[in-house]
Amino acid sequence: MKLWSGMLTGKLDDIAEIFNKSINVDKRMVFEDIEASIAHVEMLGNCNILNNGEVIKIVDGLKILSKDIQEGSLKIDTNYEDIHTFIEVKLVERIGVVGKKMHTARSRNDQVVTDFRLTLRKEYREITSFLVEYIEEITNLAQSNLDTIMAGLTHLQPAQPVTFGHHILTYAFMGLRDLERMKDFLKRLNQSPLGAGALATTTHPIDRIYTAKKLGFDSIMQNSIDAVSDRDFVIEFHSNLSLIAIHLSRLCEEIILWTSQPFSYINLSDEYSTGSSIMPQKKNPDMAELIKGKSGKIIGNLNQSLIMVKGLALAYSKDFQEDKQSLFESIDIIKLSIKIITGMLKTLKINKENIEKQAKKGFINATDLADYLVEKGVAFRDAHHICAKIVGKCIKENIGLEDLKLEDYKKESEFFEEDLYTKIDLLTCVRNRKVLGGPNPEEVNRQIDFVKRAINDELNNRGE
Ligand code: ARG
Repeated sequence: MKLWSGMLTGKLDDIAEIFNKSINVDKRMVFEDIEASIAHVEMLGNCNILNNGEVIKIVDGLKILSKDIQEGSLKIDTNYEDIHTFIEVKLVERIGVVGKKMHTARSRNDQVVTDFRLTLRKEYREITSFLVEYIEEITNLAQSNLDTIMAGLTHLQPAQPVTFGHHILTYAFMGLRDLERMKDFLKRLNQSPLGAGALATTTHPIDRIYTAKKLGFDSIMQNSIDAVSDRDFVIEFHSNLSLIAIHLSRLCEEIILWTSQPFSYINLSDEYSTGSSIMPQKKNPDMAELIKGKSGKIIGNLNQSLIMVKGLALAYSKDFQEDKQSLFESIDIIKLSIKIITGMLKTLKINKENIEKQAKKGFINATDLADYLVEKGVAFRDAHHICAKIVGKCIKENIGLEDLKLEDYKKESEFFEEDLYTKIDLLTCVRNRKVLGGPNPEEVNRQIDFVKRAINDELNNRGE
């Protein structure tokens, strides 16, 4: 059964039939499809387009279908073209010909995009709540590592002293921005296209505001052609997911490095590690590698959505049918990825000793040594030069800055005194960086409070 068979008397080619179908993808929106149909039919009643008896029959029929599908007594039959066809056919089977009135003043063009926006709104809530848990977990890790001295890297080379808490908290701020982007996007997502019809609304006196309110949309889409012929909300969702994915991917790359032998900063729990089929000693960070690997899919899907839309003349074209599968795929990947990384963070063990041992290796206090001379009045450029010579000397002797004798320091500058050793002590180096945003433990605590406040605001806004 085709909703559109009528003028076309010939049968669709078997392969074309399969190619045309979307039910395997759009069945995911079944409950949203029914919800939107109920709102639509109630509105038709309010506007005297259908009579009361018809409305009651159709709405009750739709509610029963929804319940049956939920309970499993009605299975979605994927032989139908799409979920809209399946629901309409089943409705007519259950309540008779009155069911055929459901589609009055509507097109699948506004129907599908309404269903899609409703489905994405539900996914939005789930993804953002997962993000909140993830950010909270990072904050916990930061809190318990405020004084775990760590080598901050640039170019992957030892640079300056930070703490593990300071470093890991970076990801909480990335996550907060991801959350903010999603929230900002909700304004544009949560607008109702319903009533736009195929493209030019309808001659029936429908009430678009009623259906918009009933379905929890913030407003209607103002132009009917726009309502059915853009997918910028799809692209924006993809783009938000891509940013989340690359943030997770970067953290995963660090997790992989940190579990590797030369670092040994962390131990992943067995729950998130795998072994090797041949090497008995192996414990591999496969989950982190998979999150990284799958992020490529999410970025690829963003590209697909951009290309799908770029050459389309107004209004609806069937090209748009390809908007859902890739976004659902990316949504599923991101939800699993956030859940898994949150679990990984919750269960990993920090090797404070190793992190601090590594920090002693790369002359990361050399800037502090130069700053010591600056405090004594030496110009920074000269101080930099003097300290570079001292580092060179230490490298030759295979010692750290803290091991070089005062008399050797004095050979390079008369300003060096005994107190230089306190200045270059790594804990002092971290404590001295009190500037807003820096690694001083009290300052990082302030940053943690900032994150916590943002998360609390988010939870309060959600009513959680
Ligand atoms: N399956 C279609 C989609 O996802 C539904 C809309 C069909 N509209 C049409 N004019 N053929 O876009």
